Amino acid sequence: MKTTRLIVDNNVNKIEVYTQAVEKLKMGEVVAFPTETVYGLGAIATNEQAVAKIFEAKGRPSDNPLIVHVGEAHHVLKYVSEISKKADDCIEAFWPGPLTLILHAKPNVFAPNVTAGLSTVGLRMPDHPVALELLKLLAEPVAAPSANRSGKPSPTTALHVENDLQGRIPLILDGGATGIGLESTVVDFTVDPPVILRPGGVTAQMLRTVIGEVIEPDTTTVDDATVPRAPGMKYAHYAPDAPVFLIQPDLDAVDRAIQSIHTQNQKVALLAPDEFKHNEADWFFSLGNQQNLESTAQHLYAHLRECDDTTADIILVTVPLKTGVGAAIFNRLEKAADGNWWHS
Ligand code: TXA
Ligand code: MG
Repeated sequence: MKTTRLIVDNNVNKIEVYTQAVEKLKMGEVVAFPTETVYGLGAIATNEQAVAKIFEAKGRPSDNPLIVHVGEAHHVLKYVSEISKKADDCIEAFWPGPLTLILHAKPNVFAPNVTAGLSTVGLRMPDHPVALELLKLLAEPVAAPSANRSGKPSPTTALHVENDLQGRIPLILDGGATGIGLESTVVDFTVDPPVILRPGGVTAQMLRTVIGEVIEPDTTTVDDATVPRAPGMKYAHYAPDAPVFLIQPDLDAVDRAIQSIHTQNQKVALLAPDEFKHNEADWFFSLGNQQNLESTAQHLYAHLRECDDTTADIILVTVPLKTGVGAAIFNRLEKAADGNWWHS
């Protein structure tokens, strides 16, 4: 299959580009498109065969439910059987934006492979002009996971999508680099107080200002059995080819780790804030200023991907504070490292 990447900016005939994308989707094909978080790989959420193509292109296990994207907030009422005041208040406060709400789905609305057989559905309205225009013109709900090969870091540019899915999907809408760089916050509103299943750009603090108490499970201690609502948790994620190890952002500890890796004749790539750049690592990728977690989030996946262009045997990554977006960064790094910390 030939993969076309169409740039959507002010220099192109946008109507023509969107029309192509809408036609592909209506024909039951998949299309990659930018959102404010990461690029998504979309299919019409009521078309089971089309949704199956998402899993096929990504190589993703199909017991992992997909997020459904809507172009207008009031469409939620067509898809869910009930909506609590807290859910409604969050939609009001954070949509369009990086918040996915898990709600009770109306039966037989979405294709069964969208919800992986659950009676609930994850819904979000993305805050990106290309995604919103596409959803508006299509006027259908779009199921879309991140547009990467399963297990790889999510794509934050159209080139990441092309690298992963070239020849496997017909069309990529290229809207440039995404803004937030990490997937949306997923919150389960079928329980009270609501539970954060995946931290993201809408932080726990932001949610608390709108709805009061929210539960923030510590992903380092809960196991899969205690979090049945987040089936995606049990799969490898965001992982470069070489093994990733987490380390505290301590200059001496990082120096000792690099020395010990070199003693074993191995090469190391280091992802850490700017102040770590003067060290003996074979490759250094800057996570920016430690105080600016938004910028770290924005570039994190691109740097994890760049590690695959090196011949590093080991990837060391310093962890951020868990405050604000730091919670989401920490969560993705733990998954990339499969929970492994460096011990000298
Ligand atoms: O930012 C994002 O959310 C991106 C962009 C493309 O919008 N999408 C995304 O989708 O990350 P995906 O499919 O990779 O993430 C889906 C995750 C699942 O792994 C699961 O944790 C949760 O959302 N999820 C979806 N539906 C669910 C449901 N019914 N119950 C519980 N969790 C659900
Ligand atoms: Mg994903």
